[in-house]
Amino acid sequence: MNIIEVSHLVKEYKKIKKDKGLKGAVKNLFVQDVEYVRAVDDISFEIEKGDIVAYIGPNGAGKSTTVKMLSGIMQPTSGEILINGISPQKERKRVVKNLGVVFGQRSQLNWNLRLGETFDLLKRIYQIDDALYEKNIEMLDEIFKISEFIDTPVRQLSLGQRMRGDLVAAMLHSPEILFLDEPTIGLDVEAKYSVRKFIKEINERSKTTIILTTHDLGDVQELCRRLIIINDGKIIEDGSLDELVDRIAPYRQLVIDFYHPATIQHPKAELVSVEEARAVYKFRKDEITAARLIEDISHTAPIKEVGLQEAKIDDIIRTAYQQGRGGI
Ligand SMILES: Nc1ncnc2c1ncn2[C@@H]1O[C@H](COP(=O)(O)OP(=O)(O)OP(=O)(O)O)[C@@H](O)[C@H]1O
Ligand SMILES: [Mg+2]
Repeated sequence: MNIIEVSHLVKEYKKIKKDKGLKGAVKNLFVQDVEYVRAVDDISFEIEKGDIVAYIGPNGAGKSTTVKMLSGIMQPTSGEILINGISPQKERKRVVKNLGVVFGQRSQLNWNLRLGETFDLLKRIYQIDDALYEKNIEMLDEIFKISEFIDTPVRQLSLGQRMRGDLVAAMLHSPEILFLDEPTIGLDVEAKYSVRKFIKEINERSKTTIILTTHDLGDVQELCRRLIIINDGKIIEDGSLDELVDRIAPYRQLVIDFYHPATIQHPKAELVSVEEARAVYKFRKDEITAARLIEDISHTAPIKEVGLQEAKIDDIIRTAYQQGRGGI
């Protein structure tokens, strides 16, 4: 079942064209040339219940704009969004009950209150009953260890503590769907690890559907079965990371150290270099396995050590972004 359905979504921002210089400034007082920027340009996708989907793309691609429309904060220029069959634009209150939203770049917490007071306020806003609230706070504290700073004013929290607070705040009402826009931005290795662990746990425990926006490809690798890549407001890739890797970088490299210098050719692999007793082979994953290649070569010369190199995820995603720019 599709819990989220997006069809032909478009968002245009109004931009006022300004003439430069003093003359321009005077002119701008009287005439304003308006132009439109298409931040989201005809996007369609569906998301199944319980899935974790990475929604990634370069800066300015239109990710946050999409998340804002999905969560009903912003009106689309055109197109339709259905969350559990309901439009967040038409029935925002009903939809929001099932949503948790975190914008890593901007906290939703009240800076003037202690963290615990902020949670109490949200409890009242969402009308969460006492039993559920207690249960959720307990579960979320288990994962996030928030009790350590529950009495600290929000403005005094460190970035990592604040992010944990924001995640808890988004989960207090047990939403079925989470929109996480850069939830690991600026976090140290340990905090990042705990946020990832949390996302995994909440997805497994409660079958929460998650859309995750991030620039950290480690997040994508660790968490997401599917990724949607957008660029210039358009979807340029939609599928699994493995599929993307296979398509963009179907090659692997095998480094073999022999006991003695050896130049051994193989029909299914390209011998890239030979340097003393070290040979480097390049081969396509779909043509031969590394194990088979090693076995074949070892029949001719004894092998001391092997190393296998996969294409780096950063390079693959960078290639995907570039393809989007060039327009494939
Ligand atoms: N309120 C706004 N008014 C006008 N233009 C906007 C507004 N918000 C965003 N934009 C423009 O829309 C485009 C998409 O912005 P958006 O914030 O959705 O990108 P993003 O993919 O989230 O980028 P980042 O990775 O930097 O967060 C950008 O060109 C941005 O300048
Ligand atoms: Mg953004």
